[in-house]
Amino acid sequence: MGFIQHKAEARWFYRFVSLGYDRWINPLFWTAAMRDRALTLARLDALGLDVVDVGAGTGFATQAIVRAVAPENVTMLDQSPHQLARARRKRTLDAVTKVLGDAEALPFATDSQDRYVSTGSIEYWPDPQRAIAEAYRVLRPGGRALLAGPLRRAHPLARALSDAWMLFPAEDDYVAWFERAGFADIERLHVAPEWWDATWDPYAVAIAGVKPRAGASPLALAPPADDAAPVTPGRLARFVAGSLAGAAFIPVALWFTLRRRLARPD
Ligand SMILES: C[S@@+](CC[C@H](N)C(=O)[O-])C[C@H]1O[C@@H](n2cnc3c(N)ncnc32)[C@H](O)[C@@H]1O
Repeated sequence: MGFIQHKAEARWFYRFVSLGYDRWINPLFWTAAMRDRALTLARLDALGLDVVDVGAGTGFATQAIVRAVAPENVTMLDQSPHQLARARRKRTLDAVTKVLGDAEALPFATDSQDRYVSTGSIEYWPDPQRAIAEAYRVLRPGGRALLAGPLRRAHPLARALSDAWMLFPAEDDYVAWFERAGFADIERLHVAPEWWDATWDPYAVAIAGVKPRAGASPLALAPPADDAAPVTPGRLARFVAGSLAGAAFIPVALWFTLRRRLARPD
């Protein structure tokens, strides 16, 4: 498991990262173009859909969702009060319901939502299969889940750093999690920021599936494990190491962004 792939560590991480998330992190790693392309798989095709955005953070994906769906029908859920506080500053999200909660134990009724969206949050989940089974449970029959997340890195150094940081699954893992949860009609597409070279390994995947029948996931998993271990020096060291491994990607992304800009003929 990645060093930050724990609920408490992810909360600590966003205590700091939320300060610069919209301004510095998204423009490098999760751009509006990537978000909009991923969201096509959610089929946000009616204003009256009930939509839940899980791991919604500062509301970057939610801002695109409310362009297609009435904001009062949309619910953002995140486990970080700091991220949700940033979302509360956004006027376009005023009418959206904001809930502090855990992706692995959603506080929503079974068969209550038309769409489930989660972008860039799976990498922090200790038990992704459980969260995807929860996505299945809360959807109405015929409802769609759309999840976007990073992919396992091929370059050995990038692989070592990303695995130390958090979860970077193989694409087959995403498909298996969706299939086992009970989803049908699974679709996928790849997304990447502009600086990513198309000849490299795929950067991130968006995957969607349809819930075929009412009720909970056929997986019937036990409730999530308690992630609230005591804060020890070892755990703090793990948190610092994981954060530094993640921070190493910032100069890499800046370097390739600069190189691409300088290579442009204009
Ligand atoms: C990279 S941000 C993505 C935010 C947003 N979805 C976007 O597209 O910009 C990841 C978010 O997942 C949240 N998160 C991590 N683990 C979570 C969990 N177990 N339950 C709910 N939210 C979680 C973090 O607090 C953070 O806000």
